[in-house]
Amino acid sequence: MTRIRSVVRGTGSYLPEKVLTNDDLAHMVETSDEWITQRTGIKERHIIADGENTSDMAVAAAREALERAGKTIEDIDLILVATTTPDYTFPATASIVQNKLGSSHGMAFDIQAVCTGFVFAVATADNYLTSGMAKCALVIGSDCMSRILDWQDRSTCVLFADGAGAIVLEAVESPGEPDDRGVLASTLRTDGRHWHKLYVDGGVSRSGTAGFIHMEGREVFKHAVTMISDVVVDVLKKSGMHIDDLDWVVPHQANKRIIDGVEKKLGIPAGKVVVTVDRHANTSAASVPLALHEAVKDGRIKQGDYVMIEAMGGGFTWGASLIRW
Ligand code: UT7
Repeated sequence: MTRIRSVVRGTGSYLPEKVLTNDDLAHMVETSDEWITQRTGIKERHIIADGENTSDMAVAAAREALERAGKTIEDIDLILVATTTPDYTFPATASIVQNKLGSSHGMAFDIQAVCTGFVFAVATADNYLTSGMAKCALVIGSDCMSRILDWQDRSTCVLFADGAGAIVLEAVESPGEPDDRGVLASTLRTDGRHWHKLYVDGGVSRSGTAGFIHMEGREVFKHAVTMISDVVVDVLKKSGMHIDDLDWVVPHQANKRIIDGVEKKLGIPAGKVVVTVDRHANTSAASVPLALHEAVKDGRIKQGDYVMIEAMGGGFTWGASLIRW
């Protein structure tokens, strides 16, 4: 029986011009390139410029995704921006992005699931498209984590950074077979019992300030591999597929040791995991679409490939989606 699938039409990304290396950080706090590289795999990261906002990065990534999709903003009737670092408390950054892209039709709203935001946004867009609520979606992850970092706190300031990535998803009438192109299955999870292990100590209703990131790194690390592996296995089960069927795994880029841990636990064949954490660090909701776009642009991800995206972050939230490209 035929059914609607959300098919990827194009990808785009944006990284701010300024690059901050581990050696630069070693001049700012008591740390070293050796410590950061060994514990995280990060070598450098991009930092947003003064006067540049989350919406600016989102718009740049969106423009590239639209162009590569062969679409214009007129074709888009759903804009989702996954972000933890909005331009304003309200309206949603998605409204600002819609306006900057020159559109005033359809709907636009933000998704707040921290580092898992992009995966939540893909699954949400998929539901809007497959239910007929929308025809063509722009799904964006954009974050400037540098603005909520305490630059004196070496346990967090070496980990996070800035950037944006975007994809265009279009509703397409498909045969309804397991090998259709498009989003094939998703699993999203939240366990609020862990909220205080990774959080920002400000907010409108508590302090009226944006606040700074606090993290119990070891606690996050302890749960990450298990939580991510569980949702990947669940998505494979839902789609009747095996880990060996995957062409690419595109993980959230928080820490190379977490990426390696998941690879080992699930037995993902070597060379099938896209890694950008060394150059991008943890860009929160932007990390997965940034990595996706890089692998599409350099020809690794091709039409017909089975691509698993996964992430875990504050909340705790975690999730995965299987996309046939
Ligand atoms: O999207 C999800 C977001 N977050 C994550 O995924 C983060 C998950 N956690 C991690 O990636 C790791 O836990 C970290 C990279 C944050 C830390 O690595 P770790 O191996 O768990 O180190 P640790 O927290 O156990 O710290 C080891 C030592 C400590 O010193 P003592 O207490 O053993 O003397 C820290 O004070 O390393 C020290 N330390 C540093 N030293 C140099 C912490 N940060 C730094 C630093 N430079 N930047």
